[in-house]
Amino acid sequence: MPNYVDSPEYRYFVNKAKALTNIDLENYKPWQIQRRLTFIMEQAGTADYMEYADILASDEAKLTQFVNWVTINVSEFYRDTNKFRELREIILPPLLERNRRLKIWSAGCSNGAEPYTTALILEDMTPGVNHEIIGTDLDSRILKTAREARYLERDVKNVPKHLFQRFFTQDGETYVLSDEIKKRVNLKKHDLLKDIYDSDFDLILCRNVVIYFTNEAKDNIYSRFWASLKDGGVLFVGGAESILNAKELGFKVLAPFFYAKVPDTGGLDVRKAS
Ligand SMILES: C[S@@+](CC[C@H](N)C(=O)[O-])C[C@H]1O[C@@H](n2cnc3c(N)ncnc32)[C@H](O)[C@@H]1O
Repeated sequence: MPNYVDSPEYRYFVNKAKALTNIDLENYKPWQIQRRLTFIMEQAGTADYMEYADILASDEAKLTQFVNWVTINVSEFYRDTNKFRELREIILPPLLERNRRLKIWSAGCSNGAEPYTTALILEDMTPGVNHEIIGTDLDSRILKTAREARYLERDVKNVPKHLFQRFFTQDGETYVLSDEIKKRVNLKKHDLLKDIYDSDFDLILCRNVVIYFTNEAKDNIYSRFWASLKDGGVLFVGGAESILNAKELGFKVLAPFFYAKVPDTGGLDVRKAS
């Protein structure tokens, strides 16, 4: 494969993309960007980086599509650190009082940073307890990355020092998560829009996934999460994803971005869909 990264056409594209979107493609692994760009450029009807850059400069919709596509798998450990602190300090203790062993689903888990963060927090709070943590994503390629559990410094920068020292090993420029934490997370391919949902969860994390979905699709997903949670179970959503109709969907707001299932409330029939 030619080294496209150093080609003048690609340099032109990188500079233009940064000027237009503030996204610096230098921060992304070249092979990941390449596979995404190939696909999205095909959709825009070109295979030429310079032409694609010019298309982005003149077509707002294509520019938005480009941003969404590039950032779609972005994740990191303890993403929104404060929210994970609240998860640990406010949300998990009462759940653990009710059940010693929790069943947790990270839906749209990308490279695994989110379910592994949850596993790290629980290992710290309840050492040795084998909680059931499931991580799912639509994208089987990103699940492969999640299984490898090899991260860059920017992905792990928010991991508390004592956990970082204990559970990560440096290998060149990457940091590899220990098998001890990896084996606590069961990674599977799953499409939130099409597949059947498992049930009896104490906690569901679905963060920065539904952001580009229609309101109808979001309501459908949130209603199905409601049905998949135990009574009193908690849904944890992303920092730009407040559920405005939470009450109607049968949730009580515990704290911003944390919603508890209130049994026998809410009213969308759609939640009964499998
Ligand atoms: C921006 S990442 C969010 C990762 C992580 N939850 C976080 O907040 O850091 C969004 C992930 O959602 C996944 N995704 C998008 N549509 C999906 C769907 N219909 N079903 C399951 N996963 C989906 C993407 O493949 C991507 O890995």
